[in-house]
Amino acid sequence: MSFTNQEKFSDQPRRWALRGDLLDFTAAPAWGEIEPSAVRFDRDHWLLVEDGRIVGRQAEAPDASWVRKDHAGQLVLPGFIDTHVHCPQLEVIASYGTELLDWLERYTFPAEAAFADPARSRAGAEVFLDALLASGTTSAVVFPTVHKVSAEALFEAAAARGMRLVTGKVLMDRHAPDGLRDDVAQAERDCIDLIDRFHGQGRLAYAVTVRFAPTSTPAQLAMAGALCRADASLYMQTHVAENRAEVDWVARLFPEARSYLDVYERAGLLHERAVLAHGIWLDAHDRILIADRGAQVAHCPSSNLFLGSGLFDWAGAAFNVSLASDVGGGTTLSLPRNMLDAYKVQALRGERLTAWTALHAATRGAAEALGLGDEIGGLSVGQAADLCVWDWARGPVAEARDAVAKALHERVFAWMALADERNLAACYVAGHRRA
Ligand code: GUN
Ligand code: ZN
Repeated sequence: MSFTNQEKFSDQPRRWALRGDLLDFTAAPAWGEIEPSAVRFDRDHWLLVEDGRIVGRQAEAPDASWVRKDHAGQLVLPGFIDTHVHCPQLEVIASYGTELLDWLERYTFPAEAAFADPARSRAGAEVFLDALLASGTTSAVVFPTVHKVSAEALFEAAAARGMRLVTGKVLMDRHAPDGLRDDVAQAERDCIDLIDRFHGQGRLAYAVTVRFAPTSTPAQLAMAGALCRADASLYMQTHVAENRAEVDWVARLFPEARSYLDVYERAGLLHERAVLAHGIWLDAHDRILIADRGAQVAHCPSSNLFLGSGLFDWAGAAFNVSLASDVGGGTTLSLPRNMLDAYKVQALRGERLTAWTALHAATRGAAEALGLGDEIGGLSVGQAADLCVWDWARGPVAEARDAVAKALHERVFAWMALADERNLAACYVAGHRRA
């Protein structure tokens, strides 16, 4: 769907009410628990929305002054939060035959080079954000490219859609092809300018974006750390310990560091607003450090399976874990599809992921880990009306399964395992219909 089509959606009443089966969380469900008190399920209830915020949640229909949207018999969830995804990689999704380092060289870097062109960056940002919305994702932490214009384009396209978006120009000053490298001084100027113009404007926030340790010199990592130290409200996003060949390369490049994660620790990049993608090949010391710093790991199960990177130890994590698509390493923007992949990753580890832990990680868990729990990730009064309406089942197979589900977890788990963007009936961002 193009943004031009979406403009007609933004003709939205100031006050409206949505009827459906409301599901969100009041706390983090415990690992493996099927009936946790943290799940809040209100069958056939109403959400009242005024000026883009949730102002009521009730069993009774509101009075006639409220415009009604009757989705009785459909599932209403907070909009999903994808904590790690690459805007310029839509075109390399589903590329055959390689692991991470070859995949970057062969497919990803050439696709990212095209974003030097401002028109390409702008068109790419629009298609990408519309695709997120069509998948039920209303907030995201996003990698653009090394080009300043690619970050500008994402910020501008997100602002036009009212989306909560965290991004920042990618830092890469070595081990990348011509046209995809910056240098420390220019990168610092670009970051400062983007921070001044976009960080904290509306629903936008800046992330100091280190691609990964191999593509930044120690001087660039130090510059990135200094930016974080200068403003504690900035996010930081990067990749860590995704693939074994990558981990070995980092050990050769940074012999002084105790581990891959320690490269970031030494540069001052680990803090409460750090989003670390993957974290598969971490040791016990690293895992404690992430918890101590209050950082989060963005678990990317679709990508980890597709690129053959490894099986993330979620059950053993004492730190915040959010869920992410990592497109184009991941093969779908749909977070329900990623939840099923996460279930399969845990099954291969001999663990079982509940629908509650998976859904929490894509909503309230991610919001809290980002310090945005008051605004997004739930259906509470006072939160932004970022919400999605889903069909419980689509097609004969899912309908047959849904018809025999008895307990709530059984029903929600089957939804999670079988749903995709075709189940999305409506998606609202700050009260405006966007898909
Ligand atoms: N590590 C460094 N860059 C990337 C990337 O674009 N995708 C993934 N999955 N891992 C990376
Ligand atoms: Zn990634």
